[in-house]
Amino acid sequence: MSAMDTRDLLTDAFSRLAPLTRELVEGADGDLLHARLDPQANTLAWLLWHTARQQDVQVAALADREPVWTAEGWADRFDLPLDVDDFGYGHEPDDVAAVRVADPTLLSGYQDAVAAMVDAHLATLDADALDRVIDASYDPPVTVGVRLVSVVGDALQHLGQAAFLRGVLERRQERIADDFDQRAATWDDDPTKVERARFAAEAVLAAVDPRPDARVLEYGAGTGLLAQHLAPRVGPLTLADPSSGMRAVMQAKVERGILPDAQVVDLDLSQPVDDVGPFDLVALLLALHHVPDPAPVVANLAEVLAPGGSLAIVDLEPEDGSFHGEGFEGHPGIDPDRLRTWCEAAGLGEVDVVPCGTMERHGQDYPLFLATARRPAQR
Ligand SMILES: C[S@@+](CC[C@H](N)C(=O)[O-])C[C@H]1O[C@@H](n2cnc3c(N)ncnc32)[C@H](O)[C@@H]1O
Repeated sequence: MSAMDTRDLLTDAFSRLAPLTRELVEGADGDLLHARLDPQANTLAWLLWHTARQQDVQVAALADREPVWTAEGWADRFDLPLDVDDFGYGHEPDDVAAVRVADPTLLSGYQDAVAAMVDAHLATLDADALDRVIDASYDPPVTVGVRLVSVVGDALQHLGQAAFLRGVLERRQERIADDFDQRAATWDDDPTKVERARFAAEAVLAAVDPRPDARVLEYGAGTGLLAQHLAPRVGPLTLADPSSGMRAVMQAKVERGILPDAQVVDLDLSQPVDDVGPFDLVALLLALHHVPDPAPVVANLAEVLAPGGSLAIVDLEPEDGSFHGEGFEGHPGIDPDRLRTWCEAAGLGEVDVVPCGTMERHGQDYPLFLATARRPAQR
């Protein structure tokens, strides 16, 4: 095989990485990018970042140039809380969690920039350059050509993992939405759900004491039971739920005057939004433990609050997993201390957590808490 053939083979192999990355980020939301199959598992964001990063570092070293990460401003755009030279080798689960992107196209944009650099470098390589030994400590010694095969092999392995992960996560999201869609029509037939919404609404109203014209968002609203009980004491309601079945039930309640003038929306706060709010009160009832990655959602809930506005979250205390049972894909309750940390990291103050009754299920009592926090009047 001629030297030209070898270079063409490498160029072809590397040219597949950018289109694969673009496919993997297309339409991906924050939940999909940052969800983990277990607490040790890599996220889609980490896999795609590392794939591009290791090519950049290793090929830039071969080319004796600065990686595009710093040379073209990608480190600033990602703004990760990691050392600027870090490219993911030896990362622990906390380091993986630190790789968060608000905009998924950053990942494909960076891979595109790396691909252009790699392509330009490959075009300079002749047979002698490919055979140059760069690490004689191995037997046989590592040549430039061998290193490039390792780099592209590593990238393909990680992209394969990313494709597998995205498929599993998408099916999981669909299962959750299907489950709530199916339960929506009969949700309100269960008197315990109606009663716990009434109880939670009273607790929220007592803790927050909203103005009569307060603009309210209920997130993960289900059939809007909490909002129904808040409605007589507050102003305009916005009701968000990812389940189309739940939204249909809420829309029917709007039309029947049960939730007068409420706006029903499909709002995803796993990513920042800039055209929503502001709200004087954002309330959640038993929704946060269903959110795969709660910290950024809390941060985005804080962002849609008006200055001086309140966040009120009623949820399950940590439990042994028996509440939802085998196969549940959310969290077995929410640790109030972690919720406090997420609120404070989101810039909220006056965080307060108090008990908020119990829920009976399978003959067992599960304690609930009410967490409230306030966005400072001025930041
Ligand atoms: C246990 S239900 C509670 C519904 C309502 N708040 C109530 O107490 O009757 C959980 C709700 O959270 C919604 N949900 C599930 N995953 C979510 C997510 N990632 N973000 C926001 N809401 C979600 C579901 O569609 C469902 O309506």
